[in-house]
Amino acid sequence: MALLPNHPEVLKKAQTEIDVAVGTSRLISPDDLPRLGYLQCIINETLRLYPAAPLLMPHESSAHCMVGGYDVLRGTMVLVNAYAIHRDPDVWEHPAEFKPERFEGGDADADGRRLLIPFVMGRRKCPGEALALRTVGMVLGTLVQCFDWDRVDGVEVDMADRGGLTIARAVPLEAMCKPRESMRDVLREP
Ligand code: HEM
Repeated sequence: MALLPNHPEVLKKAQTEIDVAVGTSRLISPDDLPRLGYLQCIINETLRLYPAAPLLMPHESSAHCMVGGYDVLRGTMVLVNAYAIHRDPDVWEHPAEFKPERFEGGDADADGRRLLIPFVMGRRKCPGEALALRTVGMVLGTLVQCFDWDRVDGVEVDMADRGGLTIARAVPLEAMCKPRESMRDVLREP
């Protein structure tokens, strides 16, 4: 939501996708989400730039192993810097840019490597991923479908974060919203 007022062309594209796939006579439903690929790209791109847990969770190696050419002894605490991986210029083109289109072909590269890890990978990955993506998709999709969003007094939304184990905004989000003309009848329904 914070990124959209700074990128009106992304907001417009997401609204058009919903208008075509769902129409303007009803609100989106969870069954619509698989057909809203661009909305999913926005969520992926947001989680790439701002992973909820930038260092994921500390893990401990249960056996001696090699990771990327490094010896990791049994019992070592391993921290994975997802924030840095998500902004690695060797992996991502123009890594600092908000560009949902980069995920239009999926979230793996040509060799099938998954490069986006906000929910981690492997046996200890987040078990809530599907629920989280469904919930975020429904909330963001409904706000995008029903309202036009704009900056306050034209001032760019400040995307600074305030650090910590989980990522949080340094400045609370303020944005202008206006019901979309095409959704007025749906919004008036009791
Ligand atoms: C956008 C939303 C969410 C994000 C980005 C997220 C991300 C994560 C991350 C990074 C971990 C640590 C994995 C690791 O390094 O071991 C984790 C673990 C976990 N998450 Fe989520 N999560 C989200 C939503 C949820 C939801 C909705 C639930 C449950 C309803 C959930 C339940 C859990 C549990 C139980 C673990 C611990 C798994 C384990 O240690 O085996 N998460 N999540």
